[in-house]
Amino acid sequence: MARLRALVCGASQGIGRATAKKLADDGLMITSLARNEEALRSLTAELSGEGHDYLACDIGNKESWLPKLQKLHDETPYSVLVLNSGGPKGGAISQAQPEEFLTAMNSHLVANSLMVRECMNFMKEKQFGRIVTVTSTSVKIPIPHLGVSNTVRAAVAAWGKTLSLELAPFGITVNNVMPGFTETPRLESLISAKAKDLGLSVDEVREQWKSQVPMKRFAYPEETANLIGFLVSDGASYITGQNIAVDGGRLGCL
Ligand SMILES: NC(=O)c1ccc[n+]([C@@H]2O[C@H](COP(=O)([O-])OP(=O)(O)OC[C@H]3O[C@@H](n4cnc5c(N)ncnc54)[C@H](OP(=O)(O)O)[C@@H]3O)[C@@H](O)[C@H]2O)c1
Repeated sequence: MARLRALVCGASQGIGRATAKKLADDGLMITSLARNEEALRSLTAELSGEGHDYLACDIGNKESWLPKLQKLHDETPYSVLVLNSGGPKGGAISQAQPEEFLTAMNSHLVANSLMVRECMNFMKEKQFGRIVTVTSTSVKIPIPHLGVSNTVRAAVAAWGKTLSLELAPFGITVNNVMPGFTETPRLESLISAKAKDLGLSVDEVREQWKSQVPMKRFAYPEETANLIGFLVSDGASYITGQNIAVDGGRLGCL
């Protein structure tokens, strides 16, 4: 089988970056996407194997990436999409402005949908494709004060489930990975915001949050990337339409 090409979004740091590394270690050719070009350049140089590139753009502005993605896909098509971006900013949902919903929907749901539309015909022809969304455990249990995020994550999960039904006959799987607390810049910023709100130190909030996790620690981004690596592999050929948490057992539902 020809070497697979993967588009890994949100790859300049955190879970996306760890995923790009994992998939490259597994032999895939990677296009990493994010806004920070310098971080993408250094990641591309670090990836194992050859043939990797990057797309520096704002995922919420389709004009900045869609024509470039079309060109890259025409040259060497993508069979693997890891659809990931930054989490929307926190706050009470009752105070959220219409623009916050629209911006978040654009960067997550709309961007995901456009990327799939661009690449799915090739996957259908090959009778093989892997689409993985990265959202949050809030798909199952909404997290207080992350109102816009909770709303958008649920929309992405519903979109992905529906898509999985449409694409399953073509050997294309669509799964949703739900990270719990994971040691990335996103978690650092959430902890700092909470510490400020509560008048506590960052370390105190870190300890409080760790105590909510049955494993009593946060995840490493590589642990989430390992699941994505498996979902992309041949071994996961009969798994589709699933929401899978990597959260140290924190999600309190069946
Ligand atoms: N870490 C956690 O504890 C946790 C828990 C639950 C859910 N999640 C969710 O899981 C996802 C990944 O988490 P993470 O912790 O790895 O997040 P992160 O550290 O904030 O990284 C987000 C990535 O998305 C990119 N990105 C953000 N906005 C973008 C835009 N407009 N256009 C293009 N790229 C953009 C960022 O790169 P640039 O800034 O270079 O663009 C970065 O590479 C996020 O949606 C996060 O909210 C994380």
